[in-house]
Amino acid sequence: MHTTVFLFLLGCITTCQLQQVYYCDFEENCDSLLFDNYWAVNNVSTHADHTYGNLSGHYITTTDLGTLKSAVSFRAKDWIEPPTNMTACLTQWIYSNEKNITFSAELAQGDDLQSRLSAGLIGVSGNNSQWNSFTIQLPYAERFIVVGSYSNVSQSIDLDDMSISLCNNTESSPETQVFECDFDRNLCPELVSLSNYSYSWFVIQAKQALTDAKQAPPIDYSIGNETGHYIWLNNLNSLKSGGAGYLNTRVFDFETGKNAFCLSFQYYRFGAAFHTSKLTVLAWDEYNSKSLAQIWPIRPVNYTYFNQRWSWAYAPLPRGNYSLLFRMDSEQEVNSSFAIDSIKISTCQYPRPYFRGDSYLSFACNFDSDPDSMCGMRNDGKGLPPHSTVISSVKKAAEIVNGGLGPKYPSGYSGERFLYWARSENTPANFSNGQIKTSAVETNADMCIRFSYFVNSTNVEPNERNTKLEILTLDCNSVNLWSTELDDSVGWRLVTQSFPSTSCRGSIYFRIRQRRPTPVAVAFDDITIAQCSSLHELTTAVPPITTTTVWNGSSSNCASFVIIVVLLAFALQLRS
Ligand SMILES: *[C@@H]1O[C@H](CO)[C@@H](O)[C@H](O)[C@H]1NC(C)=O
Ligand SMILES: *[C@@H]1O[C@H](CO)[C@@H](O)[C@H](O)[C@H]1NC(C)=O
Ligand SMILES: *[C@@H]1O[C@H](CO)[C@@H](O)[C@H](O)[C@H]1NC(C)=O
Ligand SMILES: *[C@@H]1O[C@H](CO)[C@@H](O)[C@H](O)[C@H]1NC(C)=O
Ligand SMILES: *[C@@H]1O[C@H](CO)[C@@H](O)[C@H](O)[C@H]1NC(C)=O
Ligand SMILES: *[C@@H]1O[C@H](CO)[C@@H](O)[C@H](O)[C@H]1NC(C)=O
Ligand SMILES: *[C@@H]1O[C@H](CO)[C@@H](O)[C@H](O)[C@H]1NC(C)=O
Ligand SMILES: *[C@@H]1O[C@H](CO)[C@@H](O)[C@H](O)[C@H]1NC(C)=O
Ligand SMILES: *[C@@H]1O[C@H](CO)[C@@H](O)[C@H](O)[C@H]1NC(C)=O
Ligand SMILES: *[C@@H]1O[C@H](CO)[C@@H](O)[C@H](O)[C@H]1NC(C)=O
Ligand SMILES: *[C@@H]1O[C@H](CO)[C@@H](O)[C@H](O)[C@H]1NC(C)=O
Ligand SMILES: *[C@@H]1O[C@H](CO)[C@@H](O)[C@H](O)[C@H]1NC(C)=O
Repeated sequence: MHTTVFLFLLGCITTCQLQQVYYCDFEENCDSLLFDNYWAVNNVSTHADHTYGNLSGHYITTTDLGTLKSAVSFRAKDWIEPPTNMTACLTQWIYSNEKNITFSAELAQGDDLQSRLSAGLIGVSGNNSQWNSFTIQLPYAERFIVVGSYSNVSQSIDLDDMSISLCNNTESSPETQVFECDFDRNLCPELVSLSNYSYSWFVIQAKQALTDAKQAPPIDYSIGNETGHYIWLNNLNSLKSGGAGYLNTRVFDFETGKNAFCLSFQYYRFGAAFHTSKLTVLAWDEYNSKSLAQIWPIRPVNYTYFNQRWSWAYAPLPRGNYSLLFRMDSEQEVNSSFAIDSIKISTCQYPRPYFRGDSYLSFACNFDSDPDSMCGMRNDGKGLPPHSTVISSVKKAAEIVNGGLGPKYPSGYSGERFLYWARSENTPANFSNGQIKTSAVETNADMCIRFSYFVNSTNVEPNERNTKLEILTLDCNSVNLWSTELDDSVGWRLVTQSFPSTSCRGSIYFRIRQRRPTPVAVAFDDITIAQCSSLHELTTAVPPITTTTVWNGSSSNCASFVIIVVLLAFALQLRS
């Protein structure tokens, strides 16, 4: 576990003498810096060191140049927390034959060290038989670990008298906070747990949490004892595979103004065992693009959470106007949950890329809106043999060349346009598949997909069921949400189907396959993917030809929808 080193000032009465907090002269064990395996301190020096200036002094040198990677590195062992208006400097003495060395320093933040603020890349010119020093002024940050690396090393590099201390001519703008929430001094009523999800976040006192869940954090982070509060998901009662819960902040303006902002918070994963429970922080542009961008973890692949302790999470925020969503979910088994404390947003010195959303909380498309009538859906051959797919496109009934097969009417739940896929007599035999995928959606067990479809074909035997429609997930795991095999749907049909009990970020795939190539027309329309409980009743623009509901889900939330559809079908029959 890390300790923290506070850089501090000594004797500040007359002149400020700076204390060197990290110093390695390699005469004794260097405890404050960790070097990778490409470095060693040799007992016998080949030239005078810098500390003593003679052959009995020591320095650290690169080894194994034959197998050397392009970069060799070291890092400070402990956290550095400079005083608020001071910056730190890294000084090294270098002795090398290398003419063109590139050195880069980074500040690593967060317990996972995934936030990396570049402190600069500098070219160092070695000067053989001569020790040279260079100093890098590190940007201001409240708490960080320094990581240094040398690239393009082909000749040995010797280092001596390395130090990290406060810079002499130091001046820095301290971080200013725009948001703080510790659930004790600031109660933050503006944080809301999104409704219609299985899990809800709520604020609790540590003492109380412990009586509800044995492994819950026994103390909060900000106060540090059992009287303190944090926000948590007590999943013991509501846990379900594939469940999810969101905590939403207000919308921040990280667009105007010249400052970059960073998110800092403490999380605590607790439970009996730790499998697939995840915490992620997403930026949500709810009012414009409606899209989400992952903020933290910064490199999510196989991210390792810290368990049963408070851990510091830190991430730079992109430029834009959005709120932050803390999502807890579990892919399959659920046996652990999360608590959060000390959420802060402050200025920082990171670069500011623009917000770029790449997934959605829900998805809806009726193929009627311009300019993108496909709503970001794309033809995609994933999982299908190459060169076997016919492209789908948006059409109106009147535009269909293969007019005999239809559809001759729109679905009735939206405007005139729908997604259309067809094979004719002239389509080459191997082109017997089609597939279209939605944008990536954050899915979970409480979701439903609703859509209408149409199939009509010729040259088929009675009851041949030659055309197969499937709705699949393929990006996290391959799950079949719904399928049917048929030759003629006898007009439009409406389907509502609940999602499997897993959570995932991925596209939903609409797949069409023919066993035997025959002329066929397939259409989809009125696609909605959302929490089952938030699916609104569909109103018919024009009475659809047929309305049925396929149902084999387990969520009771969908039951009310089934009733609505049944009533609707009944009403339509009365009318005709
Ligand atoms: C360096 O010297 C120390 C003490 O004399 C000895 O314990 C150590 O093994 C030596 N290391 C190498 C690499 O020769
Ligand atoms: C090297 O310098 C150190 C410190 O000045 C001194 O203690 C040591 O005796 C010197 N060694 C030699 C071989 O001169
Ligand atoms: C830095 O801050 C300390 C206390 O916060 C203050 O005493 C000192 O004068 C400040 N130094 C500068 C250079 O602003
Ligand atoms: C040093 O390296 C940089 C890029 O790595 C290159 O642009 C420059 O020409 C090199 N200088 C010499 C003297 O080799
Ligand atoms: C190398 O060191 C020598 C002796 O101090 C000095 O004259 C020369 O300018 C240095 N060269 C470089 C490239 O720093
Ligand atoms: C390393 O050297 C290669 C080839 O000389 C050069 O292309 C590259 O930019 C260098 N990398 C750095 C970080 O200087
Ligand atoms: C700061 O100044 C002192 C005294 O002039 C000097 O010894 C030290 O190396 C300087 N530190 C840095 C980081 O420049
Ligand atoms: C908890 O910490 C707060 C703030 O430090 C302190 O006021 C309070 O007395 C502590 N309570 C207990 C039970 O230790
Ligand atoms: C992530 O974990 C999976 C399964 O353990 C492994 O196959 C994959 O290579 C890992 N990916 C990375 C980037 O480490
Ligand atoms: C972001 O918010 C600011 C302040 O409300 C506003 O001036 C700006 O136009 C917004 N930008 C976008 C892209 O919505
Ligand atoms: C299906 O296609 C046949 C022609 O093969 C056509 O007569 C029939 O009206 C179509 N059915 C629908 C519902 O459009
Ligand atoms: C949640 O579901 C209700 C209906 O049960 C709906 O009125 C509300 O809009 C939904 N909330 C969200 C955020 O979707």
